[in-house]
Amino acid sequence: MTERPYVIDEMISAKAIAARIEQLAQEIRREFADTDKLVVVGLLRGSFVFIADLVRELDLPVEVDFMEVSSYGNAMESSREVRIMKDLRGEIAGRDVLVVEDIVDTGHTLHHVMGLLRSRDPARLRCIALLDKPSRREVSMKADWTGFEIPDEFVVGYGIDYAQRNRNLPFIGSVRFT
Ligand code: PRP
Repeated sequence: MTERPYVIDEMISAKAIAARIEQLAQEIRREFADTDKLVVVGLLRGSFVFIADLVRELDLPVEVDFMEVSSYGNAMESSREVRIMKDLRGEIAGRDVLVVEDIVDTGHTLHHVMGLLRSRDPARLRCIALLDKPSRREVSMKADWTGFEIPDEFVVGYGIDYAQRNRNLPFIGSVRFT
């Protein structure tokens, strides 16, 4: 991808993200208080920062696993082909599973992943997304927990990239082309 010149405006500060994760972790702890077998599944690559901070706030016995998912848009049909580039290492049948996503945009990625994981018969399957852009939705999909609802802006940072850069920004910023 050719990068056009741009600047990044801070949208959600590192402090606001940390405070929200503390609240979310409390709710998740309540939901899974009765389990001794929670598997936290990060969707690569975008969720790697969020999952790292979230699991350290959880204070529950967790296993961490990852899937790498890639989606190819088809603008003509507003449909997406979602491909699993790397599957889970572990089995999830009978386990409690929390899927961790950085952002829900059209909803295709999370919709596909949740359907696939549900077919593997977990005991309980929930998902959390740090960011949600409801105005972009193409398939009905709502995470069980959402960090922040945001407008339809191009965001980067805290794991999210633009042309594979800016994933290491500690805050969420919006990209403004100059
Ligand atoms: C991004 C993001 C979500 C997905 C959301 O992943 O991390 O997984 O798109 O979009 P959707 O709701 O329209 O499906 P991307 O394919 O850019 O890969 P990455 O996580 O490796 O950056």
